Amino acid sequence: LKITWDITAAQKGGYPHFMLKEIYEQPDALRNTITPRIVNSLPDFTEDGIDDDVLRNLENITVVACGTAMHAGIVGKAMIEKELRIPVNVEIASEFRYKEPLINEKTLVIVTSQSGETIDTLEALRLAKRCGSKVLSIVNVKGSTIARESDYVLYTHAGPEIAVASTKAYSVQMAAMYLIGCRIGYVKGIYSEDRAREFIRQLLDVIPVIEETLKQADEVKTVANYIKMAPDAFFIGRGLDYTLSLEGALKLKEISYVHAEAYAAGELKHGTIALITDNVPVIALATQESVYGKMISNIREVKARGAYVILVSMDEEYNDGDVCDKHISIPKQDGLFTVFSAAVILQLIAYYTSDAKGLDVDKPRNLAKSVTVE
Ligand code: AGP
Repeated sequence: LKITWDITAAQKGGYPHFMLKEIYEQPDALRNTITPRIVNSLPDFTEDGIDDDVLRNLENITVVACGTAMHAGIVGKAMIEKELRIPVNVEIASEFRYKEPLINEKTLVIVTSQSGETIDTLEALRLAKRCGSKVLSIVNVKGSTIARESDYVLYTHAGPEIAVASTKAYSVQMAAMYLIGCRIGYVKGIYSEDRAREFIRQLLDVIPVIEETLKQADEVKTVANYIKMAPDAFFIGRGLDYTLSLEGALKLKEISYVHAEAYAAGELKHGTIALITDNVPVIALATQESVYGKMISNIREVKARGAYVILVSMDEEYNDGDVCDKHISIPKQDGLFTVFSAAVILQLIAYYTSDAKGLDVDKPRNLAKSVTVE
């Protein structure tokens, strides 16, 4: 008897691609990253060895990273600035490392990397230390170079990420930023104990919300069948939705080779709307209550110019043909936390578009999982 055993297929655990498996692993990845840092319903980094004084005394934050990890930093910036009113600067590591950066001993530098080996991020870390800043890294791979050279490490527990396109690592990086933000708010006295507890309750709620969101996969597939025919696509949003749209566009470019751009919705009329013509897919994120009305008017503007609009929002239904061609609903949540579930929709859009085009989803052309040379 000869049994043929495909080790790669076994590792995919029944999924056709690692990327899809990793998208579905997000509830576990988030649970494993968040729950060990909750003590008495508050964020607690004692086990990670992170000194509260460093968080208490910081005056500003600089996040340095590349690609998706940098996009997680941009979400973190929006959240921390909105909630804590502490300035956060996000720098592309390959730019930062050749600058004379505006950081000092009052700056906490947060270095974010899935692999912990990205060369530009590593060199940025070394520069930050030479400037006298404390470095806290958010890293997924245990014992990696970035983790070893940092003053403090907050490990994400996403497990191995094999697909070149980062998915679960992005979610846990955002969760790590949210945990750090909450702890900073608490130790600085910006957040009351009650507010910090409420924040953590809402962060934990993200896990079942993502489980629910994953049930939308078939809806997303129909959208992908449309996008696969397009040469270009646009992602638009306001506030946190805009920060998330940057990642949506990167994901689509990276694995489906559809040219995609992310735009702050209010900025469209300053140039980009000239590119909106008949049937151009526009993925519109509208989960931020304070700018919801503004967002819907921006969507009407692109719809009026012929765009095929895919609306992602918390509305249960949306039948208004003047606004969207396709509506994808995510569960109701406070707008500070919708980035997690909306991210899942954007990841699925990229995944199914790539798959519908028959591309090598897990190993897109010209890309490596870890960029260890310049
Ligand atoms: C994401 O889908 C990319 N493959 C890429 O942008 C990645 O996030 C970037 O290269 C940074 O990698 P790191 O997190 O391992 O440092």
